[in-house]
Amino acid sequence: MHKTKYVKELNLQGTKVLVYGNPSDLFKDAAKELFKTLKRKPAANIGLATGATFIPFYKLVSSRYKSEGASFRKASTFNLDEYVGLEKDSKESYHTYMRTNLFSKIDINSRNSHVPDGSSKDPEMEATDYERKISRHGGIDIQYLGIGMNGHIGFNEPKTPFSSKTHVVTLSRATIRQNSRYFGKGKMPRLAITVGIGTILKSRKIIVIATGNSKARIVKKILTGRPNKLIPASALIGSRNVTFMLDKNSAALII
Ligand code: GLP
Repeated sequence: MHKTKYVKELNLQGTKVLVYGNPSDLFKDAAKELFKTLKRKPAANIGLATGATFIPFYKLVSSRYKSEGASFRKASTFNLDEYVGLEKDSKESYHTYMRTNLFSKIDINSRNSHVPDGSSKDPEMEATDYERKISRHGGIDIQYLGIGMNGHIGFNEPKTPFSSKTHVVTLSRATIRQNSRYFGKGKMPRLAITVGIGTILKSRKIIVIATGNSKARIVKKILTGRPNKLIPASALIGSRNVTFMLDKNSAALII
């Protein structure tokens, strides 16, 4: 790693914060961590996130993994969340997002790519089963996270206990406002299934990515305040296995 890539490097009680001058260096480093994990442990369990932030990441991963000597053949992936009430093949589901942006472009065995089933007749049971599935596989080796405008991780909204497991959540008004753009007017689901904060924190390595000006305020709140339940991503501060990768726009208020 060349020092010049970074505008700033911080260490917040063990948590690394890297601010990149250029988002393409950020995504390259984020992808390198994944390739490194896969090469060290081909049957790794990979925790994946969705959202606009991750589109360039998946593009890079799918175009580079072969030339980097990595393979998903033995790996398993576990997505963080899914809307309740959407069929897997609906346009707005995270199943569709993942298939389009990643799964159809890599050599993963479709049986090993897991996303909570939002179309389940019993979402509570689906959440419990999903939690069990993650632990049966031995937990997550590397977890990627984005950040919602209200500081949510996965769909863990403000006030979610830091010890939570995979559960059904009522989406906050802020999240409904943020994600309604993907749905027709009034069509945005009100419930989702999300991997819990406690489950996320057990991951052996966590990479949090935020890009763009719109995240600058929440990034500042997460990184400059004390961990508190009103800002779910603040649960990550103080863990040595967590790295925040920020571009200079999302870090504008802390550099
Ligand atoms: C959704 C997802 C989150 C994601 C967030 C940020 O709400 N459930 O996992 O981190 O969006 O999205 P974006 O990257 O589009 O800002």
